[in-house]
Amino acid sequence: MASQKMVLFGYLMVAAALLIGATADTHTVGNSLGWTVPPAGSVAYKTWAGTRDFAAGDTVVFQWSNTHTVAQVNQSGYDACSATNAIGEIHTSSPYNFTIASTDPYYFICSIDNHCKLGMKVKIQAGAASSLNASAFFTILVALATYFSSLV
Ligand SMILES: *[C@@H]1O[C@H](CO)[C@@H](O)[C@H](O)[C@H]1NC(C)=O
Ligand SMILES: *[C@@H]1O[C@H](CO)[C@@H](O)[C@H](O)[C@H]1NC(C)=O
Ligand SMILES: *[C@@H]1O[C@H](CO)[C@@H](O)[C@H](O)[C@H]1NC(C)=O
Repeated sequence: MASQKMVLFGYLMVAAALLIGATADTHTVGNSLGWTVPPAGSVAYKTWAGTRDFAAGDTVVFQWSNTHTVAQVNQSGYDACSATNAIGEIHTSSPYNFTIASTDPYYFICSIDNHCKLGMKVKIQAGAASSLNASAFFTILVALATYFSSLV
């Protein structure tokens, strides 16, 4: 019986892992516009970010053609359109995939010419108000798995 319990427990853990994996989304910056100098200024990326429900663990995909970059900066760099104090390397080849680590705000700009001043900048922040985050969800699944395996 012990081995049956282990097998059931194993299945439930795999199911939990799959469910948690399925909660990570991919967000393509600007949707079909992509990462470019937007036609009407930074409102394009503000609007885009406003329609997305970012969560920690999600991937943000910057896709572009022509000469652009993705520089992660802090809020000062974002406001001033300055990549002088870029965080990490400046990404020069498309696509650049960024994984959201926490609910901290993340700021990205293009470091080429005046592209940022023309609106090529985006702020991304995962919501803290997710009703059930992955770790809470996992805890519940572990509790359920433990309960069901005790019934076998
Ligand atoms: C951004 O980074 C610069 C350089 O490290 C620093 O002087 C500035 O205070 C930072 N701004 C914010 C809002 O963290
Ligand atoms: C970036 O994400 C896109 C979309 O999910 C994927 O097709 C691509 O393979 C990823 N690239 C890298 C380098 O991870
Ligand atoms: C998930 O929710 C739990 C309980 O509400 C909280 O303690 C934890 O910090 C949250 N984790 C993340 C990554 O948001």
